Amino acid sequence: MALLMIRSVSCALTQNFSRKCWLRSCGYSKTAAIIQIQTQDPQSYIEASDDETFKILANDMLVYDNFLTKEEEKSLITEIEPVVKRMRYEYEHWDDAIHGYRETERKKWNNENQLILKRVRECSFPVGTPQIDFTHILDLKKDGYIKPHVDAVRFCGRIIAGLCLLSPCVMRLVMVDDKTRYGDILLNQRALYVMKDRARYEFSHEVLEESKSIFKGNVVPRDRRISVMCRNEPDKDNRET
Ligand code: OGA
Ligand code: MN
Repeated sequence: MALLMIRSVSCALTQNFSRKCWLRSCGYSKTAAIIQIQTQDPQSYIEASDDETFKILANDMLVYDNFLTKEEEKSLITEIEPVVKRMRYEYEHWDDAIHGYRETERKKWNNENQLILKRVRECSFPVGTPQIDFTHILDLKKDGYIKPHVDAVRFCGRIIAGLCLLSPCVMRLVMVDDKTRYGDILLNQRALYVMKDRARYEFSHEVLEESKSIFKGNVVPRDRRISVMCRNEPDKDNRET
């Protein structure tokens, strides 16, 4: 369905996204207890062109380092690997947004992974947010990269949550209306990122190739990287256009 339509480099920006401020921590239930996890200081994962851009991204691009344990990462990879192994890496995406990748969608996960993804969703989406049941799995080769694009507003809503598996990377967000304004986001292996609202609608996002994978002057070594993404349903207004 929507998978191949998600990336649209030139999609119209929606004007009426919510500016509601989120708490910078998230709570989720594990058995009876509520566990709070904090995003780290945005300075540690955002390198921005200017203070204003930094403020926007600190609010709307959240990163939770070590969201997964090594065991949880392994559990996800163990379920994903046999599925993607059957596919060939591609170099020409239909909209030319991505290079050296294979991708699929998955709805049913084993019990352990289902719990992990439940935690991702509870951390990323406010209670009651209608979500796309399918998770999107993207396997990028070591030399693969994602070019700048904005996810199509017709096919997904205001929040994109992604797990970064197997390798760290740098995700660059560039303001659509002023390309001199941007922020580089450090995504460590096993981190969860939540891109929402202004970061999702007003900025393009891309994953930098190995030769450009640098954050605050330090090389971020790229390897094969698998991301697992959850999205919410598109706004009704956008769905019907
Ligand atoms: C996408 C995308 C980001 C990621 O597939 O549209 O932007 O973390 N992926 O892999
Ligand atoms: Mn995208």
